[in-house]
Amino acid sequence: MTRVFSGIKPTGHLTLGNYLGAMRRWATVDQHRAEALFCVVDLHALTVDHDPARVRRVSRQAATLLLATGIDPGLCTVFVQSHVDEHARLSYLLECVATDGEMRRMVQYREKAARERDRGGSVRLSLLTYPVLMAADILAHRTDEVPVGDDQRQHVELARDIAARFNQRYGHTFVVPRATHPEVAARVMNLQEPSSKMGKSDDSGPGIVYLLDEPDVVRRKIGRAVTDSGQDVRHDREERPGVTNLLEILAACTGGDPEALAGTYSSYGALKKDTADAVVEVLRPVRDRHRELCADPSYVEGVLRDGAARARAVARPTVDAAYRAIGLLPPV
Ligand code: TYM
Repeated sequence: MTRVFSGIKPTGHLTLGNYLGAMRRWATVDQHRAEALFCVVDLHALTVDHDPARVRRVSRQAATLLLATGIDPGLCTVFVQSHVDEHARLSYLLECVATDGEMRRMVQYREKAARERDRGGSVRLSLLTYPVLMAADILAHRTDEVPVGDDQRQHVELARDIAARFNQRYGHTFVVPRATHPEVAARVMNLQEPSSKMGKSDDSGPGIVYLLDEPDVVRRKIGRAVTDSGQDVRHDREERPGVTNLLEILAACTGGDPEALAGTYSSYGALKKDTADAVVEVLRPVRDRHRELCADPSYVEGVLRDGAARARAVARPTVDAAYRAIGLLPPV
């Protein structure tokens, strides 16, 4: 059976981008057709300046939201990365296979490191090695497919390279994974700055729709979205980035085709209204289920405990095999 693995980093409240780009497919498609593992990758949240209490809070919220989107622990495995030591253990071995040049070429590293330096801060070494830990997340579980948004393309490509290199040097140990992306909304853009991704760690609150935003907040944010100087509603990323973003969001929420939808609108106002309505409807059941789950924290804890035990059992044989293959003595 195909093995699917994906993760979500608890650096901030989850957004519509996370949902449309990744999480929704995990719940509606992946968990039904594959052996799937979904992970709150909390170690990754330590790569930038962080507040320990907030990371704990956001990690718990991310796990609860995963379940609220319809991910069913009866069908798949849901766990927290730091509960399964195999991820960090494997990461070190993979650091001995990856090169510093590969790390420095990663676009996300360059952008985030530049942002940290602009703020006058220093760049944590773990930010540089982040993609190796991500490769470990994927490879430890012998993953075939990694369902992610467009921004993770380069990281998954690196995981493929590392897997192939390790196999070639030390004998076949890892499955070489491949990324999968949604057909629409693989890159949801910030509503205020449609040239940048809607990212949960960004500061621009009005440009980001959070999964737990109240309906009137969602309507206000979409109503105030930056549109383009022209008047016609066209799907054109270069010339009409704001309108194209709204069309992509609307299409993803209604199951339509963004180019076909463009032809049905003659004003930005109507497009914004329909997009806001569609987003509110898509998020309603997630918010409702999240509220129910918050009333029962011991249920979520139990899911994470079982999930960690299952994930450990999946990862351990592969990580142990990698330790032997690379030349380490078996424990005595
Ligand atoms: P993260 O936490 O930034 O995002 C989680 C998932 O949401 C997708 N995503 C988006 N999709 C469309 N439009 C957007 N604006 C948008 N923003 C985020 C991401 O592509 C991702 O699929 N490095 C990863 C976490 C990670 C991981 C892994 C993923 C760690 N280990 C192993 C897969 C497999 C990250 O920071 O995702």
